[in-house]
Amino acid sequence: MEATDSVADTNPPMAMLAELTHRCPLACPYCSNPLELKQQASELPTGDWVRVLGEAAALGVLHVHFSGGEPASRRDLVELTKAANNVDLYTNLITSGVGLTERRMNELAQAGLEHVQLSIQGTDAAEADHIAGYKGGHSRKMDVARWVRSHDLPLTINAVCHRQNIDHLQRTIDLSVELGAHRLEVATVQFHGWAAKNRAALMPTKLQDAEARRIVDAAREQLKGILVIDYVPADYHATYPKACMGGWGRIGLNVDPTGRVLPCHAAESIEGMEFDNVRDKSLADIWYQSKAFNVFRGFDWMEEPCRSCDRKAIDFGGCRCQAMAMTGNAGATDPVCSKSPLHAKLLDTVIELDAVSSPPPLVYRGR
Ligand code: SF4
Ligand code: FES
Repeated sequence: MEATDSVADTNPPMAMLAELTHRCPLACPYCSNPLELKQQASELPTGDWVRVLGEAAALGVLHVHFSGGEPASRRDLVELTKAANNVDLYTNLITSGVGLTERRMNELAQAGLEHVQLSIQGTDAAEADHIAGYKGGHSRKMDVARWVRSHDLPLTINAVCHRQNIDHLQRTIDLSVELGAHRLEVATVQFHGWAAKNRAALMPTKLQDAEARRIVDAAREQLKGILVIDYVPADYHATYPKACMGGWGRIGLNVDPTGRVLPCHAAESIEGMEFDNVRDKSLADIWYQSKAFNVFRGFDWMEEPCRSCDRKAIDFGGCRCQAMAMTGNAGATDPVCSKSPLHAKLLDTVIELDAVSSPPPLVYRGR
């Protein structure tokens, strides 16, 4: 893989995903974190994270998203929120809610936390706790939503939808309104990391996908001014791929729990790719100079049909990790694209998955 020399055309990143830890009390079968999770002993210490937050702000990052695993598993979450706030980064906490207490939420609000994204795995305790593989999780999430709103913090509900819960989409929308959320992100499951093991159990059917689009369109109309709904449809059923990450190395970066800096959370699934670490290099150096970031910047790396396609500045050839998973070549056109020579193979897979009459049991981590 040869890097493209497009440093001069590169703008500073707008967002940093700070994956503070891979530790998580839940065991969602669609987890996009790698099969091999990073252990606590290898996590970046507080002092390094504080330095990285400063470097991010100096580099031009505007938003930091504290994520994981479950970021509340880190004892220094309040301290890191304060540190981000001190360098004027907009702070967003992406949490399952499990591991938060009312007192901790108060401390986070006082530390300057500006936004919370709370995941839900279903619309009632039985469904949600089954999917999350954690008893009692749903009821804690309902508490967390209340605490967040009591501080007048904006709340986004994150709902990953899939074959086993997509039929409850209308209820998910109603629940988000009841919880006082300003935004609902409904993202259809992506098959990276652990999720790939559960593809047959989780891929929505074509019919479910069409119904979900109808429900979202109607709800957007009905809930104007009350709830914003972001919907990421199942890309297996799409004609063109999405601009994954807004384009490789264009607007955001991920720092993993050990300090490695990745262009996207699934990038380590790309064979042969190596990632620089904030323990050795500055964030600016990594963003502008590292091979991992430059390899898919610009358009020179593209193969046909992307190279001569008039959509290349819209979707940037789709998702590199999906191209890797489905073709063994991260530089290939994402097979979701109807112009890809491998699109027909993807359609065969869709027909195969649609025909599964009773989905196989979910496979959970560590069981
Ligand atoms: Fe996008 Fe490439 Fe397909 Fe064109 S050929 S629509 S650039 S993925
Ligand atoms: Fe890595 Fe799409 S998930 S580029």
